[in-house]
Amino acid sequence: MFNPEQLHKKLILADPGFYTFELCEEIGQKLDRITELKAERNAVLLAHNYQRPEIFEVADFTGDSLELSLLAGKVEKAEVIIFCGVHFMAETAKIVSPSKKVILPNIQAGCSLADTAEAEDVRARIEELRNKYPDLGVVSYVNTTAAVKALSDACCTSANAVDVIQAMPNKTILYIPDKNMAAYAAKQIPDKTIIPWEGSCYVHHEIEPESILHIKEIYPDIKVLVHPECRDDVIKLADKALSTSGIIKYAMKSNAERFLAVTECGLSDLLKIQVPGKKFYRACKICRYMKMITLDNIITSLETLQPEITLPEDVRTGAERSIRRMFELT
Ligand code: 13P
Ligand code: SF4
Repeated sequence: MFNPEQLHKKLILADPGFYTFELCEEIGQKLDRITELKAERNAVLLAHNYQRPEIFEVADFTGDSLELSLLAGKVEKAEVIIFCGVHFMAETAKIVSPSKKVILPNIQAGCSLADTAEAEDVRARIEELRNKYPDLGVVSYVNTTAAVKALSDACCTSANAVDVIQAMPNKTILYIPDKNMAAYAAKQIPDKTIIPWEGSCYVHHEIEPESILHIKEIYPDIKVLVHPECRDDVIKLADKALSTSGIIKYAMKSNAERFLAVTECGLSDLLKIQVPGKKFYRACKICRYMKMITLDNIITSLETLQPEITLPEDVRTGAERSIRRMFELT
């Protein structure tokens, strides 16, 4: 049973104005219902680091895209995976764990970055570039559809993109779909030619350098941790560019007192809860897709075991090959 006092104490760390005691009482009842249904359904609940703070309370595992794709392949005893994140993440769980029922509580929870790369356009671009660069290697960021992963030589995540590209035997790489990450990787690996896809994440691409410069002026010693989906003019101002879990680990280990997490706002909430005693400032934007997952649609999805993620087997095996290659290369 969730205790509303304890819940309130914890959730106000993320947002004291929003998490009133009355709201925490309501949240507690919903969390109890989810716990009950999870046991009935033999379900495991995975939550991405950008989810709403109350969802972390019932999550069995939380993490970044890399950690969650590893975990999804290891939840042997569960029959159902409730994926609290966005569509490509739930698809990745299905790719690595085909025997499980994978449920995304709101099927509208997509990703503006993944949407920039349609499989048919990717196929045509690969064909065009292979005529010019016979040595071309294709790396797709995990924020892509399964069909795009199936067309790629290797997949990668924000935690290992530079390592994967570096380890590829090819000198010329088509990187799909994030042009900002492609530019970041190109700086780290000057001996390779990285051809970017013209995609970007609407959340990270809109973050401006001014919001960082403004806080740096007040706290010159602040550690600036950015997600590599940010623009080059923002990454330039960072102490480190890291995945979402990389940012949490950095803040936990560092001796610094103040941090600025430059990414989606859910991570700033999570940092305040997971790393108490340190000070976190915001230069963030909200991802509307990540916030489409709520306790209410988690309850409905556990009751109905819908919406389920399914994939044609040839697409799934093709995408699995590119994910396995990522693990082999790193
Ligand atoms: P991470 O893999 O770093 O958690 O990032 C996922 C994502 O969608 C960032 O926008
Ligand atoms: Fe996609 Fe951007 Fe949202 Fe991440 S933050 S899920 S890249 S739209």
